[in-house]
Amino acid sequence: MLIARTIEELRNTIASRSYKSLGFVPTMGALHEGHLSLIQKAFEQNDLVVVSVFVNPTQFGPNEDFDKYPRNYSRDIEILQTAGVHILFLPEIETMYPLGHEVEIRLPKISSILCGKFRPGHFDGVALILTKFFNILRPNKAYFGQKDYQQTIIVKKLVEQLFWEIEIVVCPTVRDEDGLAKSSRNQYLSAQERKNALILYQTLLWVASQVSVSRDLKFLAEQARQRLISAPSIKLEYFEILRARDLEPIDFLVENAIALGAIYVNNTRLIDNILLTVENLN
Ligand code: PAJ
Repeated sequence: MLIARTIEELRNTIASRSYKSLGFVPTMGALHEGHLSLIQKAFEQNDLVVVSVFVNPTQFGPNEDFDKYPRNYSRDIEILQTAGVHILFLPEIETMYPLGHEVEIRLPKISSILCGKFRPGHFDGVALILTKFFNILRPNKAYFGQKDYQQTIIVKKLVEQLFWEIEIVVCPTVRDEDGLAKSSRNQYLSAQERKNALILYQTLLWVASQVSVSRDLKFLAEQARQRLISAPSIKLEYFEILRARDLEPIDFLVENAIALGAIYVNNTRLIDNILLTVENLN
C-alpha cells in the first residue's frame, strides 16, 4: 500500500497507475467493520481503491469532540494494508487547509435540518472536504454508509450540483450482534452506556414493525419520540420520519421513508436510521 501525505504525492501516484475505475472511500479513521464494508464494496466495483484517513476539523463545532476524536493511525494503516488497499491518503490539516478558512461550500437547505440543525456548520465542513478530495482524486465512484443517511443525501446533491461524474454508492449499516450501529464514537461508551444506547435501534425496529399496522408516519414518529423521551439514561435530540429520497416531510407511507434519530448517552452523541419501504406493505 502506498501512503500519500501530500497532494502532489497523491496526484503523482494516481497518474502513474493505469486503471479503469477509481473507487474512493473517505474516512476519519478509527476504522471498524463499517468502514471495511465500504472498502470491500469498492474492491468489488473498481480496480484502484483509494482510502483517505483525515479527521476534518471544519466539520466539528467549537464544543464538539475534535480534540478527543479517536486517532490511531498505525492501527488504521495496518488494517488498510491487510485489506489490500492500493493507496492511503493521510494528509495533515495544513495540507488540506493551506490558507485556513478561505472557501465555503454550502448546501443551506438540506444542511439545516436533522443533524445540521443541532450541529451548525457540520455539513458545510463535510461538503468542503469532500469537494477538495473529489477535485484531487477525480474518483469514478465514492462510497458512503447508510448510517450517516443525511450525509449520503447531501453528497448526492453536491455531486449533482457541481456536475461531477462520480457515482455515489451507499452501503448498508454494519451493526454489532446486539444491533448497535458500529461507530468510531462507540469507543466512548462504558458497558452500561452501550446497553442504554440500544434503545435507539430498538425504537427504529419498532417503527418498522408498526408500518404494517399504520401508515400514519406523523403518529408513528410521535410515538417513537415518547418512547425515547421516557427511556432512562439517554437524552433525545431528534427523531423524525421523512421522505427517503430527499428528506422532505411526508405524512403517510405512500413512498419510501426513512426514520432517523439522534440521542445522547451521557456525553456521547449517537445516530441511527432505518428505511421504511412501501414494497413490503399490503
Ligand atoms: P467516518 O465517520 O469515519 O465515516 C466514514 C464512512 O464510513 C461514512 O460514509 C460513514 O457513513 C461510514 N460508516 C460509518 N459507520 C458505518 C457503519 N456502521 N456501517 C456502514 N458504514 C459506516 O463520515 C465521515 O467519516 C466523514 O464525514 C467524511 C465523509 C470522511 C468526511 O470527513
